[in-house]
Amino acid sequence: MTAISRKTIYPLLSKRVNLAPRTATCSYVRRKFSGEPTGPRVVSQIPGPESLNLLNQLDKIQNTDAVAFFADYDKSCGNYIVDADGNIMLDMLTQMASIPLGYNHPRLMETMRKPENWTPFVNRPSLGVSPPSDWTQLLKKDLLSVAPSGMRQVQTMSCGSCTIENGLKAMFIAHERRRRSGAPPTPEEMSSCMCNIPPGSADITILSFSGASHGWTLGAQSVSHANWTQKLDLKSMRWPVATFPSLRYPLEDHEKENRQEEQRSLSEVADKIERQMKDGRPVAGCCVEPVQSAGGDNHASPWFFQELQKICKQNGVALLMDEIQTGCGSTGKFWAHEHFSLPEPPDIVAFGKKMLTGGFYYRENMRPQEAFRIFNTWVGDPSKMVLLRAVLNTIREERLLNLVSSTGVHLLKGLREIELKYPAFIRNARGLGTLCSVDFPNNSERDKVIQGLRNRGVNTGPSGDRSLRLRPSLIFTKVHSDIFLEVLESTVKDIMA
Ligand SMILES: Cc1ncc(COP(=O)(O)O)c(C=O)c1O
Repeated sequence: MTAISRKTIYPLLSKRVNLAPRTATCSYVRRKFSGEPTGPRVVSQIPGPESLNLLNQLDKIQNTDAVAFFADYDKSCGNYIVDADGNIMLDMLTQMASIPLGYNHPRLMETMRKPENWTPFVNRPSLGVSPPSDWTQLLKKDLLSVAPSGMRQVQTMSCGSCTIENGLKAMFIAHERRRRSGAPPTPEEMSSCMCNIPPGSADITILSFSGASHGWTLGAQSVSHANWTQKLDLKSMRWPVATFPSLRYPLEDHEKENRQEEQRSLSEVADKIERQMKDGRPVAGCCVEPVQSAGGDNHASPWFFQELQKICKQNGVALLMDEIQTGCGSTGKFWAHEHFSLPEPPDIVAFGKKMLTGGFYYRENMRPQEAFRIFNTWVGDPSKMVLLRAVLNTIREERLLNLVSSTGVHLLKGLREIELKYPAFIRNARGLGTLCSVDFPNNSERDKVIQGLRNRGVNTGPSGDRSLRLRPSLIFTKVHSDIFLEVLESTVKDIMA
């Protein structure tokens, strides 16, 4: 994600903003968060003096160029984050899209108060070697209870990048096992892999898309193409990259031309797979995000994903659906790829962020057959599973997917209304659920909007080179959406004035 560096902060569009008190707040949030602020309250420019002071101190010991402000997590509540200066911001970025139920959700606080939940925090196990005796039950009851349809295998990991790294490995291992027809590796394969050379270190590849963003580790950044800062100076694998469809929005108004563009991208995928095979560097797997997030909130149609899966299947290429940012409900379905009606599950579905733990679901054919192939010290963290159970139960009991869907429709409608009023400045409103985005004429205008919103008490983020990324948590309601839309319109008006 392109962080807004302090160095690029634009002249502040600062009017002191105080949208509180509002009488209306939705009943869901009123019931759950008696302490949730009724609106943003801005008392300083952001970052304010205390954030800048803390930034100076931190900067002495690490790079802080991506830090936007310091937060006071004790005071943050529900949809609102409070910064070190006491500014109260409606948070529509939510820690890089990773807070499922807002700040200090009573259900999570209650979970933490119970002594019976403390053991995994105090004794972090090496899950691959000595898992706790209730581990299988935890996986079944929690992670498998929300597994994508048709997927019954799961592997936890600590973070998203680590998940992708191991998902890539699983696809390579499965590919080579198939090539050997299940026979054990030869002595030559076992010795050559120790020197990083074929045949043991196989010359096989992963196909990814322009604009993709799958993480920061060496394998994950090799399949990422959203941002040069993710890649510069690093040795990337020479793997094929196909151009992701560049569609016109709203999708429903441009079906014909979008279909042609998707067909173009799919032909490129098929060509690249064929060429790699001819060159003796076959494609073992394909990584794709259901909605490209850091690359600019780029959507493609269900048809595109169905066809992509078909091409992968015809060519023996495993399909990894990266749901790290889109999973856990923010599109109104638990997994974004449920919107695509795929005839069969992807081979791997990666999760992280709002799921609080990294990991991936996989089909039986992706299961490693030997110990220590998909492995590290912790392979996950059971303390996160304690919290995840509370998150999943809350999503079910409070019907939060319905809330996300209806709020998403309202939010998108509001964005489209603003777009109609200021067509030269704001366009391409798009979204699934509350995972929404709009475009501005260029990078600099977009960054002005982000800073302007922040100084009016709304925290959002960039995506791609001109898009505004909205990633509220699952308890974001129409009332919050209206607050945002009002602030967005006044920010746009001020910038255009
Ligand atoms: C789609 C996607 N994949 C992978 C990652 C990497 O996850 P993490 O930052 O937890 O390593 C991200 C993070 O932003 C992401 O959005």
